[in-house]
Amino acid sequence: MKKIVVQGKEFELSILSVNIKRSIERLAVEINEDYAGKDIMFICILNGSCIFASDLIRKIKLPCQISFIKMTSYIGKESTGTVKEIIGLNEDISGRDVIILEDIVDSGMTIETVSSKLKTKHPASLKIATLLFKPQAYQKNLNLDYVGIEMPNGFLIGYGLDYNGYGRNLEDIYVLKET
Ligand code: IMP
Ligand code: MG
Repeated sequence: MKKIVVQGKEFELSILSVNIKRSIERLAVEINEDYAGKDIMFICILNGSCIFASDLIRKIKLPCQISFIKMTSYIGKESTGTVKEIIGLNEDISGRDVIILEDIVDSGMTIETVSSKLKTKHPASLKIATLLFKPQAYQKNLNLDYVGIEMPNGFLIGYGLDYNGYGRNLEDIYVLKET
């Protein structure tokens, strides 16, 4: 199994980029079908989701816009337990069909915070698309509408996901080797 070292920690290969690509294509097909005739407003949660969002929206065949919000909860590989908004939303999303784009749903705290914030802005509809989902770590009841790949617990980097800001540029996804 391919191994890499990022910031002094050892990670091993977990998801190949071809499989990431395949699941994004599947999500795009579902979204294209479900939103036929509509105009989508994607809201990408920075930083982690930037690469997922840019690959996904290029597979969307419908009129759409994208905007960004920036949230943070992790320091290193630990969640701090609170989600902070660092950059807010300028666009008016009232009456819009909104899809939140998230890289990974772990405890669900981030997605729940973003989702309840956006609900107060009266979108016509609000759905969630996440590339990765850790069902064993999930602590919320919020329904995840579009899920790319379910993963066991384990800290992941690559394809936008980081460890201390590093590793986002990796094409494949790697998991931290537990010692
Ligand atoms: P949650 O709030 O616990 O669901 O965590 C979601 C956020 O934490 C994601 O948007 C990621 O930015 C970050 N995160 C969660 N799990 C991982 C991981 O395994 N690697 C890197 N970042 C993660
Ligand atoms: Mg994130």
